[in-house]
Order: sequence, then C-alpha cells, then structure tokens
Amino acid sequence: MKVCVIGGAGYVGLVTGLGLADLGHRVVNVDIDEARIARLRQGDSPIHEEGIGPVLERNLEAGRIRFTQELSDSLADSEVVFIAVGTPSQGDGQADLSAVIEVAENLLRCWNLPERPQERRGPHERYRVVAVKSTVPVGAIDLVRGILCRELREGVDFDLVSNPEFLREGQGLHDFFHPDRIVVGACSDRATQTMRALYAAIIGGPAAASGETDAEHGQATGPAVPFVETDLASAQMIKYASNAFLAARISFINEIAWLCERLGADVKEVAGGMGLDPRIGHAYLEAGLGFGGPCLEKDLKSLIQIAEANGYEPQFLRSVLDRNERQVEEVVAKLKQMIGSLLYQRTIAVFGLAFKPNTNDIRNSASLKVIRRLKQEGATIKAHDPMVSPGAPLAHSESMGSDASASIDAIDTIFDDPYEAADGADAVLILTDWPQYAELDYTRIRDHMVNPCIFDARNLLDSKALGDLGYQYAGIGVAAVSSR
Ligand code: UDX
Repeated sequence: MKVCVIGGAGYVGLVTGLGLADLGHRVVNVDIDEARIARLRQGDSPIHEEGIGPVLERNLEAGRIRFTQELSDSLADSEVVFIAVGTPSQGDGQADLSAVIEVAENLLRCWNLPERPQERRGPHERYRVVAVKSTVPVGAIDLVRGILCRELREGVDFDLVSNPEFLREGQGLHDFFHPDRIVVGACSDRATQTMRALYAAIIGGPAAASGETDAEHGQATGPAVPFVETDLASAQMIKYASNAFLAARISFINEIAWLCERLGADVKEVAGGMGLDPRIGHAYLEAGLGFGGPCLEKDLKSLIQIAEANGYEPQFLRSVLDRNERQVEEVVAKLKQMIGSLLYQRTIAVFGLAFKPNTNDIRNSASLKVIRRLKQEGATIKAHDPMVSPGAPLAHSESMGSDASASIDAIDTIFDDPYEAADGADAVLILTDWPQYAELDYTRIRDHMVNPCIFDARNLLDSKALGDLGYQYAGIGVAAVSSR
C-alpha cells in the first residue's frame, strides 16, 4: 500500500514509517524539519533506537521509503495518511493541538492536487484514510474532521481513524513489529478494513511460529496479534488509560516503597512476590525515582485536564501525578539525611541523566529535576551518562523545553568517564538505571571519593556488596547499609 506519514522525522512518525516500509509498503515520511530530513535521506537517523540504522538503510536502498518536506507531492498517491506530529503539554496540562490543526489545514490544501500521471489512480480514487497516531484528547479528531469537511466529504473522500501507538522509546521498532495489540477506532468499515490490510503482515495468522517478521517479504510468522476494532473515542481512551495505568503502577509501588522503609520490609521482595499473582504481573513495579520522559506524565496531565473539562474530578489520577511529583523532593530529603542537610559546596556525582536507560532523551527526566533542586542548594554537580556526553547531540533537543535545557546547563561538568565524575565526590547518586552502572569497579570509585556514600535512587546495585566495601548505601524502599 502507499502511505504518507506526516511528522515523519519525529520519534513516532519515523518508527511507524520505517516499520511500514519494512513490511513492504511504499512510504513517504514528510516533516517540516529540514535538518532531520536531510540526515534521514543520507541514512542517518536523528533518533537513537535499537536496530534503526540497518532498517533505515535497507528501506532507503530498496526505495520503499523516502523523506521530504513537501506534502503536496507525497499525498497525491497515498491511500493512508498518518498524522504523527507532536502534541506537547501546555502549562495547564492541556495538549497543544496546533501542529495537528496545521496538518489538517495542509491536508485540505493538498488533497486534490493532481497526481503524477504515471501514478494516477483514476478520478474516483481520491479516497484516503486519515489515521491519527498522535495522542490527542477525545474530541480533537472532531477538529480535524471539521477542517477536512469544509471541502471534502467524509465517507466518500476520506475517513478518519484513531490508531494510537504504544511504542516505548529505545525499543520502538521492536514494539512496532511485536505489538500486544493494534487498536483502530473508526466509524466506517471501509476505513477499518484498509487499516487491517495495512497491518496484515503483523496481525499474522495461525501458521505463524517463530515470532519474527520477515523484513524482505513482510510476512508475519509470529502468533496472531489482536486487532481491536472500536469507535474513535474508545481508541483514544485506550491510549490515555493505558499510559495512566502504567503511571499508576509506578506511583503505587513508590508509595509502598516509602512504607517498606518505615516497616523494615524490602520493596524488591514485595514487588517480586506481588508480581507472581497473574492478576498483577511484574511489569512497572520497579520503585525508584518515578516516571519521567515525554509520554507518561504528559498523557496523565492531559487526561486530568480532559476529565475536568468534562465536569469530572479525577481524584485518583491526581494522586498518581502528585505521588510522582513528590518523589523528587523526597529523594533530595533522603540524600540530606545521608550526607547532611547543608549541600552548599558539596560535590554530588550524578550517574544517569536520561529519563530511562538506552536512550539519550532527557525530556522530562526526573534526574534533571533532582539536579535542579541540588543546584538550588548550592551543590556542585559532576555528571555522567553513557549517552549524554558533553559534545553529543541531544535527542529531541528542539522540543526539550526550557526546563530541561536549564537543568542540563546547571550541571557543572558532564564527564565521559563515570570514574572521573565520582572523583572527589561526597556522594554518588544513581538516577538512571543503566545496567553498566552495576558493573563499575566500586573499590576504585570508593578510593577516590571524599566520602564513600551511594544513594541508589533506582535500586540497581547490590547493597550488601557495597556495604562490604565500606559504603554507606541507601536505595528506595530497601534496607539501608551503614559504612563500617
Ligand atoms: C511509555 C509507554 O510505555 C508507551 O507504551 C507509550 O506509548 C509511550 O510512553 P516511554 O515513555 O518510552 O513509553 O517509557 P517507559 O519505558 O514506559 O518508562 C517511563 C518511565 O517510567 C521511565 O522514566 C522509567 O524509568 C519509569 N519506570 C518504568 C519506573 O520508574 N518503574 C517501572 O517499573 C517502569
């Protein structure tokens, strides 16, 4: 099929476009970001994503994907048009829909431009499915509909569908090829069937066996993936409710963690024991610094705002957010308990800046929020992150917002080497659970610290081993170890 992805140089748009191209579709990714489009044409991905390099290269080489700034020549022969532009949070939590509105206006402007003669599909074949991938409030699709219906007929020229994404950063391509479900909200059977055909290779069939998608032929060989056909509003709510639920699990376990500390229980043991109940499961029960990143908090805030706008007080959702926001303060307070409340001119080595491991994305990273607080109290911050190094370009720097930029500027020095970051420190603070931090030589680190103290706000390290090395160690919701 022929597909156009608008917002195609952004995270969701790029992963979606590449995934569809790899399934064998002919894809055009359109984006207004000139620099990113230029890089992508050269086979250079502006985002870090497991396995993205080879997928980009082979699909460019095979001519299955191209990148452009021009919507007009991309739309002409497309059967499905994805809207995958950003919907950042505004101050009040409301999703900023300006990019979505602009795309809808541009679509209308380009809809009836002539096709290239060699690709003409006939005068009656201007029907296209407009699939909204961006996470937008229930009702925002009506805005898009309103714009398109100024000149086009719904059901004849176009149909709208909501096709939310559930891609985790760092594993987005994997999640594209191995989804737990594909959700399509629509009000026309024709549109639903078009989307079903688009994803046919992933939806798979009973003959499937190995769990892999054959990239060359786009054949599904894994177990069938549920294809959820629903209405537009329910599809959008599935996305919001899923992210809010994941956030709720994290806030829940963080609350339990603080309680565990007071009661002498170990939250890792508790979460492990809880997760064995199949009604509960193990996922998203890791206590730590709370949820950060570009999605969970944004979507939760947006859902709270949607609830209020519809006359409902979302008490539970508010507590989930509130628990997460308090986590940063509590982590700072606990650090003070360990090394003294006066942080002025104390040197803190921060391990981890990204909002989670395997990404260089620092948007809404809880680590940067902690750093900002420590700086306010006069601490010196020496930081390390495996993927955020002094000269390295930052992911999504254009959409990071002033908070993230200000926080990264607040760091006194970012080191390429964690040992250098820890040299002369009063405490090491682990803020992102990069697995490599568990493999460091903590004897070497101890010998160069002013004070052998580790606050592991991600519960990553072996507390007993560190205690044996003479460290004062604390995690979140686990037994503290005093230095001998
Ligand atoms: C999330 C959703 O998982 C994905 O389905 C959605 O489409 C986009 O938002 P992502 O933002 O990439 O994906 O991050 P995710 O892997 O879910 O982690 C979010 C945050 O929660 C991170 O800061 C992580 O450190 C934190 N987290 C996660 C915990 O604190 N504890 C956990 O048990 C799990």
